Amino acid sequence: MSLLEKFGIKHPIFLAPMAGVSTPQLAAEVSNQGGLGSLGLGASAVEAARTEILNTQQLTDHPFQVNFFCHETDTLDDTIAQAWIAQFKDKFAEFGVAAPQSLTKIYPSFKDNDDFLNLVLETRPKAVSFHFGIPHPHQIQALKDAGIITMISATNLAEAKAIEAAGIDVVIAQGIEAGGHRGIFNTQFDAAVKTSNLVKLLKQHVQLPIVAAGGIMDGQQARRMLNFGAEAVQLGTAFVQCKTSNANPAYRKALLSKPLTQVTASISGRPARGIINHWHTNIDTPDRLQVPAYPYTYDLAKQLNAAALKHGDEGYGAFWAGSNVAKIRELEAPDLINQLVLEMMPR
Ligand SMILES: Cc1cc2nc3c(=O)[nH]c(=O)nc-3n(C[C@H](O)[C@H](O)[C@H](O)COP(=O)(O)O)c2cc1C
Repeated sequence: MSLLEKFGIKHPIFLAPMAGVSTPQLAAEVSNQGGLGSLGLGASAVEAARTEILNTQQLTDHPFQVNFFCHETDTLDDTIAQAWIAQFKDKFAEFGVAAPQSLTKIYPSFKDNDDFLNLVLETRPKAVSFHFGIPHPHQIQALKDAGIITMISATNLAEAKAIEAAGIDVVIAQGIEAGGHRGIFNTQFDAAVKTSNLVKLLKQHVQLPIVAAGGIMDGQQARRMLNFGAEAVQLGTAFVQCKTSNANPAYRKALLSKPLTQVTASISGRPARGIINHWHTNIDTPDRLQVPAYPYTYDLAKQLNAAALKHGDEGYGAFWAGSNVAKIRELEAPDLINQLVLEMMPR
């Protein structure tokens, strides 16, 4: 069965799940246009995630995927956390607020308990994808028994092999060009493989269908990935500018400024690619302190950004974007899908 038949979609174009940016409207627009819409639910509490899924189901009868974070829950090293906080005390003071006394684990992992699993089993989206790791075997089995397609991001061959061995249905080949968080399982190690090379590598060594993600902004680039052996492409950055995304005005303005991007772990505690701002230039210096565990670090970044914004400083935002962001187009999601389909036609 082809990937399109498996998912019941017309075009091999997936909207990347984007926590904080995805909306039911954007997901439904992509699905209604024949792609696979998605909801990034990794940063949502269970009831908020339920509302998003139900709202999307109101807006489309077509298939869509939901996405969760699957990180190991690290305990916070208090010495590292206190040193990290201390270096921002003056900055917080400049913005007229006190620095936090401690850092909170702001996001759960799908693996922490079965609350998100039960939500998926109740609401039955077509597919569920994971970032940062592999769910527990009983969770994978329950999703399989329910007939829900499972997908996980891999950034290197070893991760893809582990995904295959765990019985997952589809592997997402996330190259180093990708916007947002690297899907790496081990935060100490990133092979930083280019998307095209990763697709070729996985094609040679893994039997699973491959979805290519990272730096794909137009149909020609998408066609190249299909020619290398991917069965679909997943685009994130290309959709952030759409009216129905949740991106704020500062983020939208930055996306249109022909920006450059760089990977940093200083915002959240895990490496992620975004538009270069204070985090990359002032914090990621050669003598940078050790970053506290994910997602504790993100707690501080969000508080600092909120304080900075009140003072008109937009340079502490998490403006996730892929390395080809300069090619972004101001199109609404249905028009972007149509355009991609036209450009993808074999010539
Ligand atoms: C704003 C933004 C948020 C993202 N959030 C998530 C997420 O919640 N879960 C996930 O699996 N991937 C997330 N990603 C990564 C995407 O799944 C995908 O790998 C990436 O967008 C592909 O690269 P591109 O942005 O160059 O298209 C995010 C990407 C962006 C740009």
